[in-house]
This record gives sequence, C-alpha cells and structure tokens, in this order.
Amino acid sequence: MYRVQCIKIDTSFSGEMRYDDFRTKLLENAGRPAIVNVNIGTTVKGAIDDLDEIISTLENCGFRDRFYIHCDGALAGLMLPFIKQAPKVTFIKPIGSISVSGHKLLGCPTPCGVVINRLKDIDVLKSTNIEYIASNDVTISGSRNGQSPIFLWYKLKSMGYEGIRREIEACLRNARYLTVHLKNVGISAFMNSKSIIVVFEKPKDEVFVQKWQLACAGNVAHVVVMPHVSFEMLGIFVEELTEKRYALLQDKEFSVPCVALDIGQENCLCKLHENIRSSL
Ligand SMILES: Cc1ncc(COP(=O)(O)O)c(C=O)c1O
Repeated sequence: MYRVQCIKIDTSFSGEMRYDDFRTKLLENAGRPAIVNVNIGTTVKGAIDDLDEIISTLENCGFRDRFYIHCDGALAGLMLPFIKQAPKVTFIKPIGSISVSGHKLLGCPTPCGVVINRLKDIDVLKSTNIEYIASNDVTISGSRNGQSPIFLWYKLKSMGYEGIRREIEACLRNARYLTVHLKNVGISAFMNSKSIIVVFEKPKDEVFVQKWQLACAGNVAHVVVMPHVSFEMLGIFVEELTEKRYALLQDKEFSVPCVALDIGQENCLCKLHENIRSSL
C-alpha cells in the first residue's frame, strides 16, 4: 500500500525470526531506515519473535534512531499478559505500535481490533479533518464500525481479568493435550510453548481436512485450540484421525512423511528421525 520495499526475514522451524538473518539483512541495508514487523504469534505456528533481541540487533547494527517497530499480536497479543513468564510487549521498550484482533481470542461477532500507537504518531494524522463527520479521523476510509468497541468492552467487562486468564489457561492445557495425544498415536506434532496453535503432519484424507476445516500450509496443518474447543472435541478429532491413519498404514506403499523441516527433527516421527533418535 505504501510502496515500501518489503524484505522477508528467514524463520526457524518454530516460525520465529532468525536473528542472524535479520542482522545480515539490516547490514545489507545499512544507511536506510527500517520498519520491522514483530510477530507476537505467527498465523500458522503461533511463534513469538524476541522483541528484546530485535531491538538490540537494530541498535548493534547502527539503526539506533532509524527504526519503527510494529508488534502484530493478532491472536497471542491478548494472551501474553495472562501467561506467567511470557515476554513483555510494552511501550517502555522502543516500539511504535501494537495491534490485536477482537474477533479471534475474544470472539467478537464481526472483524474488529485495536491498534495502540504513540501519541506523537497520531498527532501527525490530526490534520485529517473529515468534514462531513465534523471530526478528525485516522482511518484510511474515514469510516469505522461503531458497534465493535461496544462488543470489545462488553466481552472484557463480562469476563474480567480472571475470566480471561482462566480461559487462556484452559486453551494452553488443551493444546498441550492435543500435541501429546497426536504424538502418542504416531502423528508428528509441535506447538510453541506460549501458543494455542498445534501444528502437525497434514492429513492425507481430503474429506477429513474439509470436515474439520483444517488450515494447511505445505506439509503441515494446524489446529487453533480456541476457548470453544473442548477436551472431548479434541478426543473425537484424534480418534477420527487415527482411524483414517490406520487405514493408510495397511498400505505397504505408505511411509510416515518427514516433516522435520516444518516442525523440527525432534518432533518428526518419520522412520529416519525415529531411527536417529533411537540410535542416540
Ligand atoms: C499474525 C496475524 N496478523 C494479522 C492477522 C489479521 O488480523 P485481522 O483479522 O484482525 O485483520 C492474522 C489473522 O489471522 C494473523 O494471524
């Protein structure tokens, strides 16, 4: 939209930014300013980039006063404040903005979200006076949904801090259960420790993928263990997947696919990585 050159930074199998690659790309672009999108929960793997590491890399590479950091916390941004030992995403650090979605974790019925910026950046936009609403406006279209803040307010007020904390705790517990359960039945699986997203070997059965509306990316699929996803639902999911898989395992041609590049060798249950592990 702004016609700014976009440079992608490599990630490790967990989905987290590779800071060595970040450093290389900063040095290749020394002398230019950097706008950095820090992921506070990536879409597919729920990986959280290390904000402190990113800030110190920027400073060490000479970008001291030439960077702007946006923290994209669409899903996990609302979770971190409720998780013990989670990294702190805060304006005490030199970040420019944070965004979270309202229709994901909080379940608002229409797409909505919150972006928090520094006042000095908002002030630049104050000159945008929209005549027909007799107001200063900072949206691109000069228009917004008035119901969304009410939904957000209602959800936050009705659940309260403790209610949200309990819900997140349950989601994390269920996600851990799903990961272990999948591995126990021989399906390669992985989750980042402060995420509610479980990534696993993409099921071969398209009907199963459609039925459960699984989001797939390359060799893997993921389940986002949201508050409505119960322990029982996960049990049924794994049971059905195991049945499909049992049928596949009867086929002599079938071998468990290798997903080490997608979710790490230690989480891959293909023959090669099983053999390597057992020989250690
Ligand atoms: C990391 C990340 N950022 C942004 C978005 C988009 O957020 P929204 O739906 O609030 O525009 C998503 C949605 O899946 C996401 O996963």
